[in-house]
Amino acid sequence: MSRLTLSDVTVSYAERVAVAPFSDTIEEGEWLGVIGPNGAGKSSLLRSIAGLIDHGGSISVEGVRLDGLSDRERAKRVAYVPQEPLIPDDMTVTDYVLLGRTPYIGYWSSESKRDREVVAETLDRLRLADFAPRLLGALSGGERQRVVLARALAQQAPILLLDEPTSALDIGHQQQALELVTELRCTQSLTVISALHDLTLAGTYTDRLVMLDDGVVAASGAAVDVLTAERLGEVYNVCVTVEVDPDDGAVIVVPRRGFPVRPSDD
Ligand SMILES: Nc1ncnc2c1ncn2[C@@H]1O[C@H](COP(=O)(O)OP(=O)(O)OP(=O)(O)O)[C@@H](O)[C@H]1O
Ligand SMILES: [Mg+2]
Repeated sequence: MSRLTLSDVTVSYAERVAVAPFSDTIEEGEWLGVIGPNGAGKSSLLRSIAGLIDHGGSISVEGVRLDGLSDRERAKRVAYVPQEPLIPDDMTVTDYVLLGRTPYIGYWSSESKRDREVVAETLDRLRLADFAPRLLGALSGGERQRVVLARALAQQAPILLLDEPTSALDIGHQQQALELVTELRCTQSLTVISALHDLTLAGTYTDRLVMLDDGVVAASGAAVDVLTAERLGEVYNVCVTVEVDPDDGAVIVVPRRGFPVRPSDD
């Protein structure tokens, strides 16, 4: 069971409020996309759920508050792919993905056969099996990003937080990674919250979008209601057209040449 409840979650850095009180319930198996311009508070929100930064309000999974749990117990419930992961150059792909199994390995034990199997399966699913013995420092940016996703998936937590997980991936690997997350959420009821800058991808893969603007929810709901050209113009100061595929309802956001919609401040 993995319903995630956020109640009046706030994040502040010194004087600056990065996330104003934010409340939402993300149902088991649901995929929530968090969108918004640079600095809107997306990573701050995800990092607060991951327990990496102080926050106000409460965050709980099936009624159990995450901030009352040890790191180990939290990691069994929530896996997190950071926007800018720190990656040790001299570690092999296998050893790095094995770190995802840490919450299941006893303090004085080493990994089990099962842990190694999960790592091998995960690498296989992300078509990274051939990379297993390679050093992280010798991978391309996109390959590294897929390895970081593999580490999070090997954690087998029911809640997955993805902060720009596909920013360095080519269009094929983007689709492959997001399809894999889709598959896992269907087969294992994975609850997913992702920040994605690509609005078309965000609208395509998620069930629901929340658009943040300067820490505040500017819109939330189905992609077709949130991703309007007018709102994107206001919030992102961008000129786009939005098309809705008549067959499958996919919302496609196309940047256009043109002047920003928002009037200048002066
Ligand atoms: N460690 C920090 N100390 C102080 N301010 C911070 C810190 N991290 C983020 N901020 C500020 O908080 C606000 C929200 O940042 P956050 O990283 O959550 O935005 P974001 O929506 O993820 O942006 P991006 O699209 O660029 O990744 C920004 O104004 C940012 O400058
Ligand atoms: Mg961010």
